[in-house]
Amino acid sequence: MTEQKATNITWHQSLITRADREERNRHKGAILWLTGLPSSGKSTLAHEIERQLFQRSCNSYVLDGDNVRHGLNKNLGFSPEDRKENIRRLGEVAKLFADAGVIVITAFISPYREDRDSARALNEPGTFFEIFCKCSAGECEKRDPKGLWQKARKGELKEFTGVSAPYEDPERPEIVVETDQHILEECALQIMRFLEDQNIIRRL
Ligand code: ADX
Repeated sequence: MTEQKATNITWHQSLITRADREERNRHKGAILWLTGLPSSGKSTLAHEIERQLFQRSCNSYVLDGDNVRHGLNKNLGFSPEDRKENIRRLGEVAKLFADAGVIVITAFISPYREDRDSARALNEPGTFFEIFCKCSAGECEKRDPKGLWQKARKGELKEFTGVSAPYEDPERPEIVVETDQHILEECALQIMRFLEDQNIIRRL
């Protein structure tokens, strides 16, 4: 548990509720928490989901690990402790987005089950969906668009997930997307159907 340092702080309730925002948006706020090995297709899928949601006039936004580490989390590296703090902060940020009525799609490796479960625990049931981007390590290493698997194999990159740092597969994800079996549009459509079934978005 992260220590609460500040004292004398008071929660100020908004005059606009989440339900008000959702009614105006004509869809619910939600968190699509993508997790998977490096190069498993999280960011690519996240952006395709965002594109498809945008086309349907839904408010959606991608939080991407690489991007957030340029700003909000620029003081964090890849030790287990730093990854934990990375996910803790981003779980809170994702919750804020969902509260604002947005369908937020997160693309973080988030390798530790415990950290993903903590992010889930911040939210009401039925609003946080863990999506396992399942792709064999062999295929991820073959794709390697940023050349990081190769660097890690050569020993030039330490604590690299999949090579020298662990990845814990989700045990009960809401969705498994096999990114090495299906093309991108199909994977995104799988998510759209799920969101319709969960009444997060309306059917077309
Ligand atoms: S997480 O483990 O803390 O969830 P996050 O998703 O924010 O990771 O960042 C992962 C991204 O950082 C990868 O997409 C990759 O481009 C880059 N990266 C740089 N070094 C590493 C490393 N040692 N392990 C994993 N990813 C790394």
